[in-house]
Amino acid sequence: MALSWKELPKPAVIAHRGASAYEPENTLAAFNLAVRQHADAVELDAKLTADGRVVVMHDNSIDRTTNGHGLVREHTWEELSKFYSGRSAPDTHIPLLAEVLEAVTPYLMVNIELTNYATPFDNLPQRVAALVRKLGVAERVWVSSFNPVAIYRFAAAMPEIPTGLLLKSHPRLIYPLRGLIPHRAIHPHFSFVTSRRVEKWHRAGKRVFVYTVNEPEEMRRLFRIGVDGIFTDDPILAQKVRSEVKATPR
Ligand code: G3P
Repeated sequence: MALSWKELPKPAVIAHRGASAYEPENTLAAFNLAVRQHADAVELDAKLTADGRVVVMHDNSIDRTTNGHGLVREHTWEELSKFYSGRSAPDTHIPLLAEVLEAVTPYLMVNIELTNYATPFDNLPQRVAALVRKLGVAERVWVSSFNPVAIYRFAAAMPEIPTGLLLKSHPRLIYPLRGLIPHRAIHPHFSFVTSRRVEKWHRAGKRVFVYTVNEPEEMRRLFRIGVDGIFTDDPILAQKVRSEVKATPR
């Protein structure tokens, strides 16, 4: 069991939105299952509600994943708490970030993605920092975002917590400015991760956690070129592939 970022096994298996191949994404059901499946960490998406609470939801709108409608930021927490994903059960409602951190951090590390992409200057980074501090889980989390401003603002509030810069494609524009954005990891999409790039990122002192990898062939390729971890919907499959790769080094 990895109790801090430094102790994460390499390559780490990070349950993307929880064990989302098996349970509705970003619900306590998916996060608790990832714990039982012995993932090394979980990843989740944090957003603000209309009344400033931090909830866990990927999309801006709740339409795709729940039985409700509308934008997260236009509902209060009380309104959102009535909706659920997949089936009506105590562990499938839209969770507060606090609930997930309390449930998961005794067992696993949590990667919090700051997903305030539609409202990049809201105070999500400060809210998340305050919550992490209040719950005393600073050792058990790392924070990432595609939004460099959010990373910058989070790091200003809690410089001791590692941050990861999410990249959709080869970073011609953003990456040259990387010196301005405090980050100890790169979180790239798998489609542009090559052995040379991994070496380059490692030489720059960054860890490399790749998203979102669900095909065994792609998992094998990434494990063989030495990435530090992958985000996957299926932690069981990734652990199986990792064992096979370790058993047959090239
Ligand atoms: O944080 C890894 C991955 O979740 C990033 O992509 O679109 O799922 O937020 P997305």
